[in-house]
Amino acid sequence: MINGERTISRPLRWGMVGGGRTGQVGYKHRTGAQRDGTYRLVCGAFDLDAERGRDFGTRLGVAADRCYATYQDLIVGETAREDGVEVVSIATPNFTHYEITKACLQAGLHVICEKPLFFTVAECVEIEKLAAQKGLIVGVTYGFTGHPLVHQMAAMVKKGMLGDIRIVDMQYTHGFNSGDDVGAGEAVKWRTNPKTAGSTFVLGDIGTHLYYLSEIVLPHLRIEKLLCDRKAFIPTRAPLEDHATVLMHYGNGARGRLWVSSVDAGNMGSQRYRFVGSKASVEWSDSRPDQLIYEVQGEPNRTLHHGMPYLEEESLAVDRMGALHTEGLGDSWSNIYLWIAQAIDAKNRGDEAFLKTHHYPGIKAGTEGVRWLENCVRSADMGAVWVDFK
Ligand code: NAI
Repeated sequence: MINGERTISRPLRWGMVGGGRTGQVGYKHRTGAQRDGTYRLVCGAFDLDAERGRDFGTRLGVAADRCYATYQDLIVGETAREDGVEVVSIATPNFTHYEITKACLQAGLHVICEKPLFFTVAECVEIEKLAAQKGLIVGVTYGFTGHPLVHQMAAMVKKGMLGDIRIVDMQYTHGFNSGDDVGAGEAVKWRTNPKTAGSTFVLGDIGTHLYYLSEIVLPHLRIEKLLCDRKAFIPTRAPLEDHATVLMHYGNGARGRLWVSSVDAGNMGSQRYRFVGSKASVEWSDSRPDQLIYEVQGEPNRTLHHGMPYLEEESLAVDRMGALHTEGLGDSWSNIYLWIAQAIDAKNRGDEAFLKTHHYPGIKAGTEGVRWLENCVRSADMGAVWVDFK
């Protein structure tokens, strides 16, 4: 169980680029990072609007002279200080991730970056090399993948409790973009423009969450082929999609089906995962994050609750609230931030042995998400045909 006890020697000096007052995801970063005292927010370039960013930063408790107008100013100002920032989180629109990550790494700063990490696998590979050269960590924030019941599913698959995996069924849909984009806010505008979002809308925005979670639960499965069919129901969003279905063939013969949509009008179910094996299935949704449905063929269905002693050690080790009390998205983010802090601490100490076995969402997790997107786009743009996964 995680109870806030320090697992690293001192808090990391932490800064943010983006995630300002009007930003959607910034607060999730701050709740995740500051929960266990492993990070201390010392600076930020929080907003494209410098004045608003400064006002916001000071209200978060950051000194006014460390609330910068741009990320370039932040790097210059902080690297000149003895007590300068050590790790920067990037919570800005997709098209800025690569340049900000690169600049931070070149300045000797660890990075925690939003998904989808970059636009291309080539950029990911380049940044992986740069981070390795500099001895720095790049973490990626796939929000729900720190949840104890996700790690319960992974442990059950590893133990063989489901048998051989046959079917992977995942859905992340909502209806928030069911209408057109006339008068839409900034967060919708940049998401629906290929210059700022990259080559996808919902596939990158929400599909990469599904894909990374499936990689955690099924690390032994590799996609061999996929077929992606995507569509913009609101035509102004084309060539990007507001709806997509992806079929996947895995190396062990398993079959996968994934549906992402932001035009699933009225649906508040968010994410749903079902992993089916030859003996049993598990199903989990973030709309009921405390419960895991476990169905063994021929037996009554079971509902497993987070934090209960009958769960696997891997799940109990990352539980925070204990049974009966809701464990949700904020707790999951805290775990992700904690694991990345432990990775940064180990890197700073030169403890490569720890890093070899330590689980955290790093550059490879970001790269694989981008690789999956590239394959989806290749298939969809050839007319929804099967392509070999490259
Ligand atoms: P948003 O548009 O709501 O907020 C972006 C924030 O970044 C704003 O405060 C804006 O002023 C600031 N900003 C933009 N460019 C900047 C720059 N060059 N320097 C400094 N600040 C800048 O966007 P949202 O929805 O918060 O998404 C940001 C990123 O987070 C995206 O990559 C998105 O895919 C990801 N995201 C991830 C989620 C997760 O669960 N991991 C959830 C929501 C978004």
